[in-house]
Amino acid sequence: MTNASNSAQSSAPVPNAGTRVLHRTSTSIPPRAVRGEGIYIFDQNGKSYLDACGGAAVSCLGHSDPDVRAAMHAQIDQIAYAHSGFFSSDAMEELADELVASAPEGIDKVYFVSGGSEATEAALKMARQYFLEIGQPDRKYVIARRQSYHGNTLGALSVGGNMWRRKQFEPLLITASHIAPVYQYRDQRDDETPEAYGLRVANELETAILELGAESVAAFVAEPVVGATVGALAPVPGYFKRVREICDQYGVLLILDEVMCGMGRTGTLHAIEQEGISGDLQTIAKGLGAGYQPIGAVLVSKKINDAIANGSGFFQHGHTYQGHATACAAALATQRAIKERNLLTNVVKQGENLVAALEAKLGQHPFVGDIRGRGLFRGVELVADRETKDPFDPTLKINAKIKKAAFALGLMAYPMGGTIDGVRGDHVLFAPAFIIDENDVAKIVDLFAGALDDVFKAEGLA
Ligand SMILES: Cc1ncc(COP(=O)(O)O)c(C=O)c1O
Repeated sequence: MTNASNSAQSSAPVPNAGTRVLHRTSTSIPPRAVRGEGIYIFDQNGKSYLDACGGAAVSCLGHSDPDVRAAMHAQIDQIAYAHSGFFSSDAMEELADELVASAPEGIDKVYFVSGGSEATEAALKMARQYFLEIGQPDRKYVIARRQSYHGNTLGALSVGGNMWRRKQFEPLLITASHIAPVYQYRDQRDDETPEAYGLRVANELETAILELGAESVAAFVAEPVVGATVGALAPVPGYFKRVREICDQYGVLLILDEVMCGMGRTGTLHAIEQEGISGDLQTIAKGLGAGYQPIGAVLVSKKINDAIANGSGFFQHGHTYQGHATACAAALATQRAIKERNLLTNVVKQGENLVAALEAKLGQHPFVGDIRGRGLFRGVELVADRETKDPFDPTLKINAKIKKAAFALGLMAYPMGGTIDGVRGDHVLFAPAFIIDENDVAKIVDLFAGALDDVFKAEGLA
């Protein structure tokens, strides 16, 4: 049967009939991005959009970096791709050297993949294989945190703690346990210091390990600063130190998911640096290649590499595009640009400017509950009532309306719902490129305030 006769059979026109692409939603067809210049994207009608979220915390160098483009051109002219089952490449070797040289303590090797979800899958399988290599085959359970996000493939979704994302695929997911996130704004008790609160929630890990049976737990997975699902939630002091202690005590691997918060986003190259510990495995993606190419990686500690190298000598995994030469060349140029241009200093400076501007303009806004985050990774949680912290009715879809209103004004922000429990709560995430200046910050905040005004007026709330 031809396509023509297929479509002739459908009875009524559907909303996405104007495209052959199955876009993210069937209800609207997005404009076409035709050009990028610095922090701006231009559509086919010439309208410009200030990218205040790097897409999804990806585009850390903006959209037209000359060095990254040149590095990609040079690599493509040499060789674009050679399968990693046959060849390595200068780009892959040099990128691995660069990443290990700047990695948290104990990291010794890099396993390249093509994105964040693939990095999570590889880390989970590597954790499992590690225990087989060292003769602990009973270790199979993974513990993670509620409201976390580790990717959309089935393994990554299984450990992710966002109920809305998991719900309809639940029958397909592997078993994982979830403990509390560090959510100071909502969960720290009045009689607790941040440190006492951190200890209380970290100790939930010990309880979960003991409940499952200490010899059967393989890994704990956590984002050092939680991104997409809850809007730039940073840990309290001491939390990760206690987590590391518990993992060491019970022989459980610590997998840090820095897919979103890593590679400079929070002001240090790795978010975990600010916590004074390191993981056994650490996933990175997004900012690694700044969006110029799809690339992710797992940073692998010496202990895990040694177990595999001295054991089977073969990590039983693999993808067609792992270590893609053009992707590695783009990532290498991205990482060199961040270092050579000293961009992390600007991340810290503009991050402080951004939070100060948000506080000044919206700190007293009746529907702004919390402004949080680190570096150029900032979240604004919206509430219906600042006193009680009650969220908006989820059926209002406030976050989606803000995204639409901001986009209409030419601002890309990253709002999301289900902040509190996967259903209730709204937040907006900001993750602009590391190259922004004070004027850009002022524009972001003005446009965002304008979008809030538009939405709350339309809802009859302002
Ligand atoms: C913390 C975290 N882990 C994993 C992923 C999945 O990455 P990808 O969308 O590249 O598969 C994301 C994506 O947003 C993320 O934020």
